[in-house]
Amino acid sequence: MGVGKGFGKTILFGEHFVVYNLPAIASALSSYTTAEIKVVDGKGWKVIDNRPATPGYKEKKNEEAMQAIKNVIEYMSIDVSCQKLEITFAGDLFAASGVGASAAQATSLARAINDNFTLMWDDEKINNAAYEGEKAYHGTPSGIDNTASTYGGLIWFVKNLNGRKNTMENLNSGKRMPLVIANTGITASTAEVVADVRKLKEANPVKFEKKFNDYHKLAINAKVALLEGDTIAIGKLMNQNHKMLQDITVSGKVNDKLVEISLNNGALGAKMTGTGRGGLVIALAKNEEVQQNIANAIKAEGYDAWKTMIG
Ligand code: MEV
Repeated sequence: MGVGKGFGKTILFGEHFVVYNLPAIASALSSYTTAEIKVVDGKGWKVIDNRPATPGYKEKKNEEAMQAIKNVIEYMSIDVSCQKLEITFAGDLFAASGVGASAAQATSLARAINDNFTLMWDDEKINNAAYEGEKAYHGTPSGIDNTASTYGGLIWFVKNLNGRKNTMENLNSGKRMPLVIANTGITASTAEVVADVRKLKEANPVKFEKKFNDYHKLAINAKVALLEGDTIAIGKLMNQNHKMLQDITVSGKVNDKLVEISLNNGALGAKMTGTGRGGLVIALAKNEEVQQNIANAIKAEGYDAWKTMIG
């Protein structure tokens, strides 16, 4: 039997912008997906998916998930013509749009295959295998999700658009910061939303150049604020980043509503995270009491909310 795990993630700054070689900052979550592999008689593979999930998420993502699994198995050169892989996914990561669930699944699978077949792959190769899985969700993944899922921690990430090695830097803030993750309950298609942004960019190249420059400055300030543990500055920059995401049309009504509830209940800053048009919202709190208040307010409106720490 082979086992492996992949962390969930939350993008603190720069989703969508990261697809275009701009820096983004993500934090791995302590929650993860696990994969367990048993080799049985037969051929091909069978998936048992025991992950907790937003209702409808698994159904909506099923086709892409099956392609992702195929991509990882093929990339790792596992011959399934004379053996069958029985793959069981589980873990405490709640599968929802925005939490890096697809990357966590691909990473856990790559690690389980590595373990089962004693391939001795290092993290870099596992990360590359998980990236192949991510390609099933949209043609041009930045790679930030699988990188956060593989390495964990707080990372500064820049995609290399020429297919060479991406830049990844670990950020050590030295300060643990309370974060609320709120779930809109809406599952978005990353492929569709990324494609819409591309169309918008192609139709407005000059405007997008300005937006990208503004975002680039924001990302540099965010890195400094995170390294200094300056939560007030981080909160303000999150609010600005949310506006930029609204501007490129990737936020949604419920995302904006959850941002507003968070800010009205004491959040230092709040923004959508990940693909958007549903998925998740994150809110930064100055302490655990405020974090609890924000989570309670979101739940009182009928949405799910989780508490985590970043930094
Ligand atoms: C999805 O978690 C993040 C996006 O920026 C897509 C990507 O980075 O590949 C929307």
